[in-house]
Amino acid sequence: MTVHRFLCAFSDTAIANNLRLPFQQNISLTEFNTFGVTARARTYAKIHDLEELSATLKLRNRADPILILGGGSNLLLTRDFPGLALHIRLLGKNIAGQDSDATYIEAAAGENWHDFVRWTLDQELAGLENLSLIPGTVGATPIQNIGAYGVEIKDTFYSLQAVNVLDQTIRKFNREQCNFSYRDSVFKREQKEHYVIVKVTFRLPRTTKLNLDYGEIRTELANMECFIPSARDVSDAVCNIRRRKLPDPALIGNAGSFFKNPIVNRDVLMRTQLSHEKIPHYPAPDGKVKLAAGWLIEQCGWKGKSMGQAGVHPQHALVLVNRGGASGAEILELATAIQKSVREKFHIELEPEPIII
Ligand code: EPU
Repeated sequence: MTVHRFLCAFSDTAIANNLRLPFQQNISLTEFNTFGVTARARTYAKIHDLEELSATLKLRNRADPILILGGGSNLLLTRDFPGLALHIRLLGKNIAGQDSDATYIEAAAGENWHDFVRWTLDQELAGLENLSLIPGTVGATPIQNIGAYGVEIKDTFYSLQAVNVLDQTIRKFNREQCNFSYRDSVFKREQKEHYVIVKVTFRLPRTTKLNLDYGEIRTELANMECFIPSARDVSDAVCNIRRRKLPDPALIGNAGSFFKNPIVNRDVLMRTQLSHEKIPHYPAPDGKVKLAAGWLIEQCGWKGKSMGQAGVHPQHALVLVNRGGASGAEILELATAIQKSVREKFHIELEPEPIII
């Protein structure tokens, strides 16, 4: 061993001892994925601060793949993970600044998303209310540009900070650099597995107009007898709708929508309308149209059906559920059977939304 290598090894051990690095071996991930499927990680580390993250990345076995775990709500584990699961528990949120038009708020990646949304409403800041009750953590939201009820994270996203897995430098990404599109960003493509997101900043304009365009919100507000709604009322309405339609992962394992809504050329819509006049569709960029995957799956007869303990939710065909004791492989098998039905009936490909390991 050269002197230099000895000193490096010594200082790494010293770092490890000082920080009591949280490497644990052969850890169950059942509690850390909202499908509640059984799988283990060869190595697991819970990360509470940046120093711990940097040291863990530095001292890890470089040959091991990394799985970044937030709330585990967009993840299907079909096997044990043969690498390092990094469980991001970085906490903290604050108002970072203001200018004449907007307030800037930032949150650490491990903050619970819904609690963060409600906190912004407590600060009398509007802009995130339509994204209430989406399971998961703040750090995961930009990765797939989460969206619901006519709003996407990209609409209020300002910037994020991420740690480079290889050299532990911190890089800032602005909105353009994230290259957001429907359920997509650079973190699902060219930057996949290269960065750990540690902090996200949102810009909430002072004069935000409430987004009530998604029909169900207006109906719900009317049912609530709320005729001049505040941002908090919209959040409550969204929570009511979601609680009615979508299964609570705390009660029945699921990862929200299992497939993306397919974006297709207009001729695909016209072809499908010849036999299914009422197919729901929405405008998408570049003259394309977005179709409702839940509708396509229901038309194939899958709503409420099961294969073993893996099932299709009876209230929403886009949500696959673990009825108790399903393995990730069984859920994937059900997803594959659904894709095959939709392909055969409609000649349309469904793309899974969660990360599949
Ligand atoms: N539909 C059916 N059958 C079903 C489910 C839906 O025919 O079983 C029809 C509905 O009647 C409606 C259309 O499909 O005409 C769209 O349904 P919905 O409004 O429930 O929205 P979605 O497109 O299925 C998307 C997001 C959800 C988000 C809702 C509300 C995706 C993949 N999913 O679902 O996000 O909450 O809109 O904005 O874009 C998630 O990503 O986990 C998620 C829940």
